Formats: sequence, structure tokens, C-alpha cells
Amino acid sequence: MIGGGTMGNGIAHTAAASGFDVTLVDIDASILQRAVSTITANLQRGVDKGKMTAEERDAVVGRIRPVTDVQAAADADIVIEAIIENTEAKSKLFATLDQVTKPDCILASNTSSISITRIAAATKRPDKVIGMHFMNPVPVMTLVEVIRGIATSDETWQRVEDLSKRMGKTPIEVNDYPGFISNRVLMPMINEAIFTLYEGVATREAIDGVMKLGMNHPMGPLTLADFIGLDVCLAILRVLEQGFGDPKYRPCPLLVKMVDAGWLGKKSGRGFYQY
Ligand code: CAA
Ligand code: NAD
Repeated sequence: MIGGGTMGNGIAHTAAASGFDVTLVDIDASILQRAVSTITANLQRGVDKGKMTAEERDAVVGRIRPVTDVQAAADADIVIEAIIENTEAKSKLFATLDQVTKPDCILASNTSSISITRIAAATKRPDKVIGMHFMNPVPVMTLVEVIRGIATSDETWQRVEDLSKRMGKTPIEVNDYPGFISNRVLMPMINEAIFTLYEGVATREAIDGVMKLGMNHPMGPLTLADFIGLDVCLAILRVLEQGFGDPKYRPCPLLVKMVDAGWLGKKSGRGFYQY
């Protein structure tokens, strides 16, 4: 698992809880510490409800090895990448992973929107590169959107379909176009909710309240944006805007301003709400 942030810790948690040995890599040692304590706290929810023993919790955490050196991927059968949503950073990492890993290792990306075909082109094994898009919070959400790049082989798809099921998830196959299905549909809704706030149509509580009570969404769109990360939302909208060349995806100026301010949502303590 490369990247120990919001998604990386959830994917590592779920893989280890499914019995896999996980090496968790992040460039930032403090993020790794935070990831292990988040995983422990999230497993504790199960202990508190009597669904798991304290020994089982410790065994899951014990299957996760946090490290800062990407060379630790040398023994992996599959690498799942969840670093920042940036094409250049992902391409650079995949070129390194292509050098570091075993030749038959699958290289999967948890990208929310970036072209799998383009990420795969940074490697000499595009047939073994695939999108494995988990949803946040990973231990709870059952979907994995599996994205086939132009060169992804049937064997790679089958191995990832099998792995998704062994992690207790339901894989759904999608072709490689900007935002896939999930964020092509979700992000315009979140962006429109931000425009609604920006134009003074209603308060944040009213916008979230309408979508919760009126549409039965578990979280309102502004709360969900904070939960996802406002930097991640902005990066996805930029990929949609550039990928389709269509101004209907232009990010709301308020979202851009908040990201400029470092108000990234729940992970930074401030977004549309305070945490
Ligand atoms: N880890 C482990 N378990 C967790 C958890 C976590 N991080 N968060 C919640 N849970 C568990 C709780 O322990 C609880 O378990 P039980 O059913 O066994 O009691 C259950 O999940 C429900 O949690 P809560 O009762 O605390 O809270 P809730 O009912 O309000 O649900 C929620 C919380 C599941 C997050 C819910 O609000 C929700 O579904 N929100 C929408 C999430 C969503 O839309 N995710 C997709 C985001 S988009 C994306 O991921 C793609 C992208 O590329 C941006
Ligand atoms: P995040 O900002 O919480 O975490 C990213 C982590 O990557 C950071 O800890 C950072 O230190 C680390 N990192 C950056 N460059 C690295 C490198 N070269 N090697 C190792 N680690 C590196 O981000 P996140 O929300 O977890 O998102 C990660 C990926 O998952 C993105 O592609 C995002 O689009 C996608 N995603 C996010 C969500 C969500 O709800 N947040 C949902 C599905 C998919």
C-alpha cells in the first residue's frame, strides 16, 4: 500500500483485516504513525461492539508494516497506490514501482479520476496496471470501482476482481474515462452544492439538510466534501474539466479559494465546517 492518508489507511486496514500481510509506505513518517493509530481506533469500534476481540484487533494491526522506503515493495504481489491526486506524481511513482517490483506484480491505482491508461504508460507493463478505486470510509463501503486501462489484460482484471471479493468488496467494472462513473456523477453534485453556498442561496446547514432529509443521503454534500478532502475534490474537478474540455465541470471559485487557504476539510481541521 503506497500512501497512508485518508484512503491508504482504510485500504491497509481492510486488507489486513482480510488476512493479508500489508506493507504501508508513506514519504511522511508522521502520517504513518497517524495511520496506525487511526486503524487501531477504527478496529476498536468492532471491539467495543463485541464483534472482535482485543487480540484480533492487535493481530490485524500486527499484519501492517509501516515504512518510508518504497523499495519495501520488492516482495509485493500487488501494489495499491493512494498518493496525492496528481498525474505527474503518480506517473513518477509508477515508473519507480516498475523498477522496484517483481515482474508479475500488479500495479493498481486508487485514483479518483486520473487516466489509468496514462499512468500505465509510465511503466513497461501496462497490461498489469489497473484502477482499484475504493470508497471512503474503506472498511464500511462495499464498492470497488475497477477501471480497465486501454492495455489492461483480462488476467489482471480477474486477479483484481478476485482480490476485491477476498477483501469483502463488490467490484464493478468501468472503462477508462475521466472520473470513471463515481466521480463523474458525484463531483458535479458536490460542486453545484458549493455554488449554491457561494451564490448565497442558503446556509451550509440548509444545503446539507435538504439533501439529507429530502434525498436520504447519509451526509449532505458539503459535509461529504469535507470528508473526502477539498483538495481531492478540486483535483477531480480539474481532471473532469480538462479531460472532457467542457466548462460545465469548472470548479466553484469558493472551492479554489478554500484549498488555497489550506482549508482541506476534516483532515486539516477546517473546511465548510470546523473539526
Ligand atoms: N472505519 C471503520 N468503521 C467505520 C468507520 C471507519 N472509518 N466509519 C464508520 N464506521 C462504522 C461504524 O462503526 C458503524 O458500524 P456498525 O454498523 O457496526 O455500528 C457504521 O460504520 C456506521 O457508522 P456510524 O454509526 O458512526 O455513522 P453513520 O451511520 O453516520 O455512517 C458513514 C457513517 C458510513 C460514513 C455514512 O455517513 C456514509 O455512508 N456517508 C457517505 C459516505 C460516502 O458517500 N462515501 C463515498 C465518498 S466518495 C469516494 O470515496 C470516492 C472518491 O473518489 C472521492
Ligand atoms: P491524502 O492527502 O489523505 O493522502 C495522500 C498521502 O500520500 C499523504 O499521506 C502523502 O504523504 C502521501 N504521499 C504523497 N506522495 C507520496 C509518494 N511519492 N510516496 C508515498 N507516499 C506519498 O489523500 P487521500 O484522500 O488518501 O487520497 C489518495 C488517493 O485516493 C487520491 O488519488 C484520491 O483521489 C483517491 N481517493 C480519495 C478518496 C477520498 O474520499 N479522500 C476516495 C477515493 C479515492
